[in-house]
Formats: sequence, structure tokens, C-alpha cells
Amino acid sequence: MPDAAALTALDAFVAKLPKAELHLHIEGSLEPELMFQLAQRNGIDLPFESVEALRAAYDFSNLQDFLDIYYQGANVLRTEDDFYDLGMAYFRRAIDNGVRHAEIFFDPQTHTDRGIPYAFVIDGLWRAVQDAQKLGLSVLLIHSFLRHLSEEAAFDSLKMAEPYLDRLVGVGLDSSEVGHPPSKFARVFAKAREKGLKLCAHAGEEGPPEYIYEALDILHIDRIDHGNRSLEDPALVARIVKAGRTLTVCPLSNHKLCVVKDLDLHPIPAMLKAGLKATINSDDPAYFGGYVNDNYLALTRRGLIGREDVLTLARNSINGAFLDDARKAALLAEIDAYAG
Ligand code: ADE
Ligand code: ZN
Repeated sequence: MPDAAALTALDAFVAKLPKAELHLHIEGSLEPELMFQLAQRNGIDLPFESVEALRAAYDFSNLQDFLDIYYQGANVLRTEDDFYDLGMAYFRRAIDNGVRHAEIFFDPQTHTDRGIPYAFVIDGLWRAVQDAQKLGLSVLLIHSFLRHLSEEAAFDSLKMAEPYLDRLVGVGLDSSEVGHPPSKFARVFAKAREKGLKLCAHAGEEGPPEYIYEALDILHIDRIDHGNRSLEDPALVARIVKAGRTLTVCPLSNHKLCVVKDLDLHPIPAMLKAGLKATINSDDPAYFGGYVNDNYLALTRRGLIGREDVLTLARNSINGAFLDDARKAALLAEIDAYAG
């Protein structure tokens, strides 16, 4: 374990290090304070007495436990302004965390299935994206399909996105993983690809290594979200390394959802050692106790990663982004200048 002075210096280094965040669900950045504010603004009764009581309920044994409360929380999002406020709250936090570029998931079906028009969601987020840009943060949007719903529902959702394709960089696949393999969405992902969208899928968070093979071989994804369980299969790790696919890993999420028993055993060091292009991300920061820097610090403070690993992870976040080469080169140069 590094000594206290070295740790303090590393904390300070992480704090302002230029980085990208590639795995963030905007609905998962809804802090309890904003949830209460929006509930009041929209005349909604929350089934919790206070911000503290709500936070106390954030005690999960698995992914489904979390999803149940996360979908309930999203119910306060009703108007275009709500989505704008949600987006801006995250973008300000991201900027404070040294994030220079963010690729954020949003779950349209969570909203359109409650009767909220797709336009409210995308227009509110888009206005926030443009305001973030003025603050120096670039943002790309990823329309995520809920995998516990049908393939037909995903097709319907993609259809709603059609008038707004110029605002989207890609599609994702999230929600309850086990029992809903990537192959269930083969046709809708093929269609998204035809429309020029990038493809991501959550795979190997709770689901088995076979789901990661399916994401690679059947969906032909560009990026793997989580991918923790790839480590159970050395041939799969070799495949991912050879294909050069980036993994968007989320340490605090993994701990809160019991994907890892103990943060001291987090697999990021093993992933880097194996040559995987791992990145560090916050997933659902309002629910898991921290934004992206807290996720780096959860590992540095345990002595699991040092300064060089931190730099590798930040560079991986830029290289794994769906950005053009010029913006990537500019952000990598910022990291080099910062590292000195
Ligand atoms: N939706 C929001 N966060 C998620 C996660 N960690 N896994 C699957 N679906 C999610
Ligand atoms: Zn996620």
C-alpha cells in the first residue's frame, strides 16, 4: 500500500486529470435532492419521507434490486426541462471531475412507456448537451434498449429515434441481463448499424461469458459495457484483446451490485495485466456513491492501481470514445501535457 503522502499526491493527480466517461446512465445520475425537487415541481408523491430515507434505501444485493428503485426514481422526469436539468446537473459534476468528453446512455423506453414523448427526452438532453459544449465538455448520446422488453419494443423505440438520428452516436443494451442474451436483439442491432449508429451492449456484468461472445459475434458491438466475466474465459480475453475492444468498467457499481464481493478484489488490475483496454466509469453515480473520480480513487486508495495505470486508464477512455481522430488527438495531448 502506498504511503499517505503518495496517496494524497495521487488523489490530486486523479482530480484534474483530463479523461472521458464512457459508461454513464443519465437516469442514474438523478441525485435524491433533484428527485425531490422534480417530484415537487410535477406534483408527484414520492414513497420516501426525505432525501435521507431515499438514500438509505440504496442497499442492493444484485442488479435487479437496483433496477427496481432506479426505474421508480425516473418517474419524476416528466417535462423537457426535467431532462435538461438532469443533463446539466451531471455535466457540471463531470466537468468538476476533469471529464473532457462524456458518452451517456439514456433509456427512452423508461419514459415513452409512461407516456412521455421521445421529443421531451431528446430535446431536453440535447439542449443540455449544447450548453455543456459551451463549457468545454463534449457529449455524445447513446439510445439504450431495455433488454427485459421485447425485440419488437426495441424496434419501436428505434423508430421513435428516427427523426433525431443526427443527435445520436449509437445504441446500447441495458437492464436485467440474465435471461435476456444479446442474441435476442440481433435484428434491431443490425438495423441500427445500417443507420450508421455505433453499437454497445452491457455484457458479462451478471451474465455469463457466452453473452460477451454473443455481443461480439452476433451483435458485432464496437464496445463492451462491463465485461467483468470475460476474465472467467482466457480464450475470450484473448479474443477481446485481439479485436481491440474497449471495456467500460464501473468499480463502485460492481461493488454496490455485488458483482465483486470486495473492492480489494476488483479485477481492473487483472484486466490491464491481460492487455484489455479497460476504462473507469461511474455507471449510475447517484445510486452507487460516487462520480468518476471516486471510482478511480476507490482503486488508487486500495493500492490496486498507481500513477501509470491511472494514465493508461485515462488514455484508454479517450481511445475508446466514439470521437473523431482530431478530437482524440487533442485530448490525448492534454493528458500528456498534464502528466508532464
Ligand atoms: N441500467 C442502469 N445501470 C445499469 C447497469 N449497471 N446494468 C444494467 N442496466 C443498467
Ligand atoms: Zn450500465
